[in-house]
Amino acid sequence: MSDAADPLAQIRTHGAVPRHVAIIMDGNGRWARERMLPRPLGHRSGMKAVRAVVEAALEAGVEVLSLFAFSQENWQRPVTEVSALMSLLEEYIAREAAELERRGVRVCFLGELDRLGPGQRNAVDAVMSRTACCDRLRLNLFVSYGSRAEMVLAVRGIAEDAAAGRLAPEEVGEDLISQRMFTAGCPDPDLLIRTSGEQRISNFLLWQLAYTEIFISPVLWPDFGRKELFDAILDYQRRERRFGRVQA
Ligand code: IPE
Ligand code: IPE
Ligand code: MG
Repeated sequence: MSDAADPLAQIRTHGAVPRHVAIIMDGNGRWARERMLPRPLGHRSGMKAVRAVVEAALEAGVEVLSLFAFSQENWQRPVTEVSALMSLLEEYIAREAAELERRGVRVCFLGELDRLGPGQRNAVDAVMSRTACCDRLRLNLFVSYGSRAEMVLAVRGIAEDAAAGRLAPEEVGEDLISQRMFTAGCPDPDLLIRTSGEQRISNFLLWQLAYTEIFISPVLWPDFGRKELFDAILDYQRRERRFGRVQA
């Protein structure tokens, strides 16, 4: 394949690869409806897209991949859909854990994990400890996650430390707040992708996205794969990030 036709070769020559890519994986329900299938089958197809995108992120040399899989607000969906999603979560871990470990992927689940059932909770804990030493790619899977709730927990922790005299108010700065988020230790996302054409953040990483480049893809999540990820990265590489300054 010539370089012009191979997006990975283009990515390598175009400039810096985003260190941290975050994705709001949206559109599973519409994908199913278009095929007159029940919504859970859309989520099942979405699971295959997760596999393809993790593989592509490894190929491109992304350091952190953050995937929004299930929001706190998603608990309000019909129980049948919630239980289908929770079963898929367990199935994903059972199917993929060994391969993820083999490929050097450190899996981290981020969110209010206490709300998960015991089966999901055990699976989540097991894959996190099993892959804890992997360092090729960090895969953040956001489950039962809400950004405002994450901020509330962080602020509460800071207030408790201050009240107990462990922290002085002047020590509270941007770095300390970042360290109190679930994403502590990760650079802020360079690129946020939302699939299915929706143009909103839906309570995802409100603190961390301050200067993230946003890419809205019209593709429904189950149809998103290697090519779509590489196209988004190439688009990112053509942008000029100014961070409020003027061009040098
Ligand atoms: C994204 O797909 C998956 C989750 C939010 C769990 P949706 O289920 O939101 O799909 P649409 O938006 O209804 O098409
Ligand atoms: C955002 O998608 C949450 C996830 C992708 C997990 P939603 O489909 O829940 O968001 P809204 O309701 O369209 O904002
Ligand atoms: Mg949706």
